[in-house]
Amino acid sequence: MEFFVTHQTADQYSGDCSVAFVFKDTTNENRILQSFLELHRFEAGLGETLMLGKVEGYKAKRVLAIGLGEHPLTQKNLIKALKSLSSAMVDTRVKNVVIPSLEVEDHDNSWLQITIARVLKNESYQIKKVGLEVEKKATVLEAVNIYSENNGISEISKGVAIANGMALARELGDLPPNICTPTYIAERSKLLASTYNLKCEVLEESDMEALGMNSLLSVSLGSSQPAKLISLSYSNGGKEDPIVLVGKGVTFDSGGISLKPGSGMDEMKYDMCGAASVLGTMSAVAEMGLKVNLTVVVPTVENMPAHNASRPGDVVKSMSGQTIEILNTDAEGRLILCDALTYCEKFNPKVVIDVATLTGAVIVALGKHHSGVMSNDQNLADSLKNSGISSMDTVWQLPLDDEYDELLKSNFADMANIGGREAGTVTAACFLARYTKNYSWAHIDIAGTAWLGGSKKGATGRPVPLLTQYVMDQV
Ligand code: BES
Ligand code: MN
Ligand code: ZN
Repeated sequence: MEFFVTHQTADQYSGDCSVAFVFKDTTNENRILQSFLELHRFEAGLGETLMLGKVEGYKAKRVLAIGLGEHPLTQKNLIKALKSLSSAMVDTRVKNVVIPSLEVEDHDNSWLQITIARVLKNESYQIKKVGLEVEKKATVLEAVNIYSENNGISEISKGVAIANGMALARELGDLPPNICTPTYIAERSKLLASTYNLKCEVLEESDMEALGMNSLLSVSLGSSQPAKLISLSYSNGGKEDPIVLVGKGVTFDSGGISLKPGSGMDEMKYDMCGAASVLGTMSAVAEMGLKVNLTVVVPTVENMPAHNASRPGDVVKSMSGQTIEILNTDAEGRLILCDALTYCEKFNPKVVIDVATLTGAVIVALGKHHSGVMSNDQNLADSLKNSGISSMDTVWQLPLDDEYDELLKSNFADMANIGGREAGTVTAACFLARYTKNYSWAHIDIAGTAWLGGSKKGATGRPVPLLTQYVMDQV
């Protein structure tokens, strides 16, 4: 799918299909189109579509009417309309289309172009089945022409870059855990580095041992897959300190000796979606060529039970020198993140944002709509909230008061790795906060938003739009 800017209006376009957006509360200027809509009892409900043949007054072979509901057009309504555009194209012979201009509440034309390209490209993503060719759909939309008075191709290419980053995140998330191992993630990172000329470093277990990362290493003791600590740096922002993104990369979380129940355990292949999302963001930022410095750090391990796995009750010393009593081997994300967060100090970060499928509790609190955000810097939390709103990949803030931190007390180490039943998302963040005192930091818990279950099972590509928007907003 390729995108173009066109100065032709929908009626002038002579390709396969012109889109006509229709509001409930306005009649169409084209009387012939209006009479067709009435004939087919088209009500212009949000996302309602009607594919017509030739309509007088339009040069295209077909006209696709898309309902926008009532005025005003909100960003959420636009997304619904774009998704219905994608599905209306399936099994038609339409190969190219023109999309007319729109006014979206609270947003300018540049935002609209980025969003149209991002959403349509992301909707065209097809899941790859292992060992099989991607199924050929009857037709794929080859060319999308977006109407614009001015030249908006640079905006459109930003939307495409975000969708490409999301596609990388989705592909890595969906890959089975016997393929997407820590070694595989390291290989894909090296590939990304060579595509965009990034600095890439992969620490092996022996390197991490030398740095004292015993907390991270304790998680993969029971796995035959070696742990890796990957860092990628993109430098295009002069002498500025870098934005550092850290992504949890547990390629399969069985729970370890604190084994998880069997049902739905396959979904724990998605426990590396934090890693996938920071790699996807790096891809988007590098493809756009943004004038920033960005580093991503990916601690990646597999959490398995075995005779040599960590036990509940084990005490380990983290790279920071703080000791941890592992009371539950299933609270492993924080054990790998804490060492990665200490490691980040060497980059002199402007801010550090970690992204992790960290707690089931965040799904109880926020469901699948907002990711959870917690921060030691309210300005950073506010920036992330705003970037989330404009990218429609939102976060909701949870507190980080000292009272919660007390729940991590241990009689045998500086802290325990779990805080008990209450406020599980917050106590997990409090654990991380003990390792991030030297810089401005935010933690994003994406356990509810990174993938969907049930019949729609699949990675969503979130929070690539949020993180990319945040980086764009810093330029
Ligand atoms: N990867 C899980 C969190 C998770 C669970 C994400 C379910 C999505 C769906 C994480 O490693 C984990 O197991 N967390 C435990 C923490 C608990 C032992 C304190 C949890 O949430 O149950
Ligand atoms: Mn776990
Ligand atoms: Zn986990």
